[in-house]
Amino acid sequence: MTAFDRRDLLKTAAAVAAAATAGSAVSAFAADKAAAPSAAGSIYYSKEQPGQWKGKEGTHAPEVKVEGGKVSVVTPHPMSAEHFIVRHTVILADGTVLGAKNFAPADKPESSYDLPKDYKGKICATSFCNLHDLWVSEAEA
Ligand SMILES: [Fe+2]
Repeated sequence: MTAFDRRDLLKTAAAVAAAATAGSAVSAFAADKAAAPSAAGSIYYSKEQPGQWKGKEGTHAPEVKVEGGKVSVVTPHPMSAEHFIVRHTVILADGTVLGAKNFAPADKPESSYDLPKDYKGKICATSFCNLHDLWVSEAEA
């Protein structure tokens, strides 16, 4: 497999994982989290549930800020050709994908998105590391 093929594979995996997580995250908004079976800590990871990546939550869980009708996402993760953040995705409570941004190793893993006018509710941000999988953080608008 060439480096180019691998990169395409990672992008595809990230897109599939983000789509799958969007469904899970939205279900989690409506369901009793304690009673529902959770993919957190096994299929995706969070600051609270880092699973197999315990100790890596500080550099992988996306930091989400909501201000002035915008959502800003930052992953405080080093970027190199071997190890980098591949993609951010932001999903609203009803499952709407607000936006996404792919990153190259030379990029800073930062993105921002305009919220729908007067949006109120949960916001789910994902960040995908090429070595440490998919991470999810939530915020409230
Ligand atoms: Fe990583």
